[in-house]
Amino acid sequence: MVELVLPNDANTMGNVLGGRVLHWIDLAAAIVAHRHCRTEAVTVSMDEVSFLVPIRVGQLACIAARMTYVGRTSMEIRVDVQSEDLMSGERRQTSTAYLTFVAVDKSGRPAEVPPLLLETEEDRREAKAGEARRAARLKLRPLGVTPRETQQR
Ligand SMILES: CC(C)(COP(=O)(O)OP(=O)(O)OC[C@H]1O[C@@H](n2cnc3c(N)ncnc32)[C@H](O)[C@@H]1OP(=O)(O)O)[C@@H](O)C(=O)NCCC(=O)NCCS
Repeated sequence: MVELVLPNDANTMGNVLGGRVLHWIDLAAAIVAHRHCRTEAVTVSMDEVSFLVPIRVGQLACIAARMTYVGRTSMEIRVDVQSEDLMSGERRQTSTAYLTFVAVDKSGRPAEVPPLLLETEEDRREAKAGEARRAARLKLRPLGVTPRETQQR
């Protein structure tokens, strides 16, 4: 996904707003999730994201998303954001984010997703690391309480 950063996307210093970048990250990841499972899918978590260098008004935000790991109903998607200067063509990595989406059926209940085909050594490395990230994320959930139970309280 490529976005041209316009004044309405920026703060008073002419740098893109962090919230706008998070929106683009979420959108790119959602497209990848939907294409994989071909059902509805919702964002359940986004890991810590840093903004390493600013993207200026008039520059491009280039957002690349790919699936890295799937569980039974969840899918992890890695999103890389780069700035691109239209005049020089210079690209700089600005953020990397890992998001988890859950496929849901018509009543909003988690639904099984197809397996992920791991074709390269890099795919296999990323999936193995994804498994470890998943375990770390689930540890952060309140003990014995699932998000669905929290909603019902
Ligand atoms: C996503 C949702 C349906 C999951 O419901 P749930 O009751 O937690 O379901 P489960 O406990 O069965 O977990 C389903 C999957 O989500 C994963 N999951 C749950 N919470 C997670 C979290 N915080 N981070 C990462 N994965 C999580 C589980 O590991 C499981 O994956 P698996 O099937 O691959 O093992 C529910 O939390 C929800 O509707 N959340 C709101 C989503 C939304 O509206 N997003 C838009 C932005 S607000």
